[in-house]
Amino acid sequence: MAELRGSVVGVAEFQLHCDFGHDEGREAHPGEQTFVLTMAVAHAARRGGVGRALLAEIARRAQEAGHTFLALVPQDGGDAADRQAFFQACAFTLYGPAGPGAAWGCPVSEAAAKGTAATAGE
Ligand SMILES: CC(C)(COP(=O)(O)OP(=O)(O)OC[C@H]1O[C@@H](n2cnc3c(N)ncnc32)[C@H](O)[C@@H]1OP(=O)(O)O)[C@@H](O)C(=O)NCCC(=O)NCCS
Repeated sequence: MAELRGSVVGVAEFQLHCDFGHDEGREAHPGEQTFVLTMAVAHAARRGGVGRALLAEIARRAQEAGHTFLALVPQDGGDAADRQAFFQACAFTLYGPAGPGAAWGCPVSEAAAKGTAATAGE
């Protein structure tokens, strides 16, 4: 959950220990990782760095747990290009084959270095 000046402005759900890549038969999958299930930022708070801060906090927790990689599958739909631009800005890149359900990922060290604007906590 992310708070800004006392209000909740964003949430993220993630699986700290995940073998998503191997389970899905993704050969390019780089090992034991943390998987971001979903995230959302309130409309009024978007483009203020909240999403980036949420991913950075997840990355920090993944690092604490000994993982080196964050992975996710961006939602399809009308805003898919915007979402991909967001994840790219947060250091994520496509890995494995492109197409529906394609996985994106990044080293936790890179994602952890990105977030600053909001306070992300429990
Ligand atoms: C995707 C989402 C979480 C981004 O949250 P956010 O707090 O607005 O993102 P940030 O402000 O941290 O953005 C960081 C960078 O990502 C990029 N970015 C973010 N939103 C973008 C958009 N709509 N279009 C293009 N680039 C975007 C920008 O480079 C931005 O940096 P800048 O504002 O300095 O240019 C938010 O738009 C959202 O909740 N969308 C609806 C739900 C959703 O799509 N969740 C993801 C499901 S997989």
